[in-house]
Amino acid sequence: MGKDSLSITDNRTGKVYEIPIVDGTIRAIDLRAIKAGKDDFGLLTYDPALLNTATARSAITYLDGDAGILRYRGYPIEQLAAHSTFMETAYLLIFGQLPNKIQLEQWAFDINHHTLLHTNAQRLIESFRHSAHPMSVFIGAISALGSLYPDSRHTHDPENRLLQAKRIIGKVATVGAFTYRINQGWPLNLPDDELDYIGNYLRMMFRMNEHHYYPDPILVKALNVLFILHADHEQNCSTSTMRVIGSSQADPYSSLAGAAAALYGPLHGGANEAVLTMLEQIGATGRVPAFIDGVKRGEAKLMGFGHRVYKNFDPRGQIIKKMAHEVFAFTGASPLLDIALKLEEIALHDEYFISRKLYPNVDFYSGLIYQAMKLPTNIFTVMFAIPRSVGWVAQWMEMMEDEDLKIVRPRQIYTGEEEREYTMIEERK
Ligand code: ACO
Repeated sequence: MGKDSLSITDNRTGKVYEIPIVDGTIRAIDLRAIKAGKDDFGLLTYDPALLNTATARSAITYLDGDAGILRYRGYPIEQLAAHSTFMETAYLLIFGQLPNKIQLEQWAFDINHHTLLHTNAQRLIESFRHSAHPMSVFIGAISALGSLYPDSRHTHDPENRLLQAKRIIGKVATVGAFTYRINQGWPLNLPDDELDYIGNYLRMMFRMNEHHYYPDPILVKALNVLFILHADHEQNCSTSTMRVIGSSQADPYSSLAGAAAALYGPLHGGANEAVLTMLEQIGATGRVPAFIDGVKRGEAKLMGFGHRVYKNFDPRGQIIKKMAHEVFAFTGASPLLDIALKLEEIALHDEYFISRKLYPNVDFYSGLIYQAMKLPTNIFTVMFAIPRSVGWVAQWMEMMEDEDLKIVRPRQIYTGEEEREYTMIEERK
């Protein structure tokens, strides 16, 4: 064998094994051949948080965490944020190429014509308590959509998959806006086909009594950028969940509800909400140093800081920080901005954060923009889930065409009791 291989000596047996290296990885299943004896199952790897395991071959998003590089289908995120729209980026993620003018118009038309919700789904959303967390409502409503589109269970049909993808991308915006409206106790605004995706979303969110709602171009631009930045991020916790559930051939609504549930957690997409809660708790710039000391003593986490893969900077965070000032010029700055800036300034110069490579991530500043747009904190993660649905769907479609696709079924290291006899209840102490 050539040099693209790994030689492993099993010191238990003295045997030497040659394992091929392809794309910088070895196949975990190749280790199965390494056995201590005839009855040995074979060597497994132990990687509970998948810290060093590639679970997919994907051509969608490229990420270099050390260099702070993020590209969708080869296009740098900075260029997409500067020149693209969310609809165009969604097309790029799903189809792999930028659309021409006609393709983009057709795509936007198709998505717009899937924004209406079945009244059953609408009633379901309305039946949640007004105080329900919007992400609970979002997850419930998305999973219920599977019951309204039973054809979505034909997951092996590529045409059907594309239809479901369009439905999902169209409907998540409506579901997201409705979670906000019921939280506020306001009547629902049905989608308006005359507006583009972002304008329509803003209208469904913010229209009150006015006959015509004109979305502000500055907010449309800002939301386009935020949605582009959030649209995909390769094999993160929620996307992996989408793939795991999808690998069982579940319908994509069920898979997407699971992905959204994974996103909801404060260590993932729920961090944008947690950042705002943290800033509110700190309350004043003068209290920042004491909070940082508490973080260093392990009493709290600095939410919005740190990332599993970015160990230098999060390129999305940098774009958002720059854009925040444009939005604040229009909306007025968030009262918490000064606290956030102070936190960032101290953390970026503190040995604790430097040595652990902890930098602001995408969630550190996005919440401040949403707050300046007058959105309540608990809707922030829904604002993440809507654009990320594009990435979830793109990754699911890619997975369904992968010849390596099999149901995901990890192994475990059993740490429980050896076999023992059942005792009757009267005989137990
Ligand atoms: N504040 C304080 N300390 C931190 C933070 C933080 N935000 N993040 C990591 N650390 C510390 C850990 O305590 C650990 O310290 P130690 O070596 O002394 O034990 C060290 O940095 C390494 O951290 P890990 O937990 O091993 O890093 P991991 O890659 O597992 O976690 C994560 C990444 C979950 C994002 C983490 O940094 C975190 O909890 N951040 C805050 C939540 C957050 O902002 N999440 C959003 C991430 S972006 C996204 O999902 C969209």
